[in-house]
Amino acid sequence: MMPNRLEIEYLVSQTANTCGQPSQAEYEELEHCLLQSPRQIPSKYFYDARGSLLFEQICNLPEYYLTCTETEILESSAQVIAQLTGDCQIVELGSGSATKTRILLSAYSRLAGDRPLFYVPIDISDSILISSAKQLCQQYPTLTIHGLVSDYDMALASLPPSPAPRRLICFLGSTLGNFSPQQCDAFFERLALVLAPGDYFLIGIDCHKSTEVLVSAYNDSAQVTAQFNLNILHHLNQRFGTNFVPELFRHQAIYNSILQQIEMYLISQADQTILLPWLRQTLPIKTGEKILTEISRKFSPMDIKQQLQAKGLDLVMSFSDRQNWYSVLLFRRL
Ligand code: AVJ
Repeated sequence: MMPNRLEIEYLVSQTANTCGQPSQAEYEELEHCLLQSPRQIPSKYFYDARGSLLFEQICNLPEYYLTCTETEILESSAQVIAQLTGDCQIVELGSGSATKTRILLSAYSRLAGDRPLFYVPIDISDSILISSAKQLCQQYPTLTIHGLVSDYDMALASLPPSPAPRRLICFLGSTLGNFSPQQCDAFFERLALVLAPGDYFLIGIDCHKSTEVLVSAYNDSAQVTAQFNLNILHHLNQRFGTNFVPELFRHQAIYNSILQQIEMYLISQADQTILLPWLRQTLPIKTGEKILTEISRKFSPMDIKQQLQAKGLDLVMSFSDRQNWYSVLLFRRL
């Protein structure tokens, strides 16, 4: 049997609790977002160690149908997906706790027998990446893991070479929803360049549905989503030395039916001044002012199919739940 192998590579600075410094690019991006109107904070900063744990809790909330629906779809489709693609290096963008990945890895490991299995988890939070990678190594004795602590752009630009005949890039959890249409197009463009002919792309998307179902998924009765939203301010304070007081903000999540997206905001409950220490400048925030922390777009599978077709990716198979609330789509690079 192959010995277990586990390697973690940092492409972004380590989180503040491991003493890292943000890069110049990170400072500039944050500054740019905070100076927009409305002010914005990049959604990737939800995921420090605490934010990743809060997100795990969100996934288990009764109102948050996304995770359980996607899990159910993967449970019934993983075997078929593995058979369709054959032996692959499995790359996962935003692997998190890798709970859903286990369903895929199990199907692929059944297919592979004692042949080695290659997995490249990518996550912005080093703590969750390291802990889930260690667990996976124990659970799957033939698995070799090369994890990347990174955002998606940087990771796609420097994927480790694939020892398997093909690559499968997985983008689960409807994280695509965080991208604006322009970011989405740029992401698909980059993806098409990274995939070689014959490689696969597996994506999970949250579909259009009634406003009530959508809104309650982001306004849970246990207030976990509110804590998750407010935690982004803690993370900024840790990482960038800002002095946000989370208690002075309130969580809001609404559905924008024109743009077909959930919008999450932090609404300021006071006139306040935020220190941006790297600029020696302050940021005034008025009472009632809203900071946009996340968009979560809802899709139709046909739209995604067409957008990816335009980039040279063909839909191989699509999987949905009975209510068509959620879709998992498998594409192949031509
Ligand atoms: C991980 C981006 C898919 O948009 O539903 C959950 C994040 N935000 N609750 C989503 C999230 C609030 C989630 N994604």
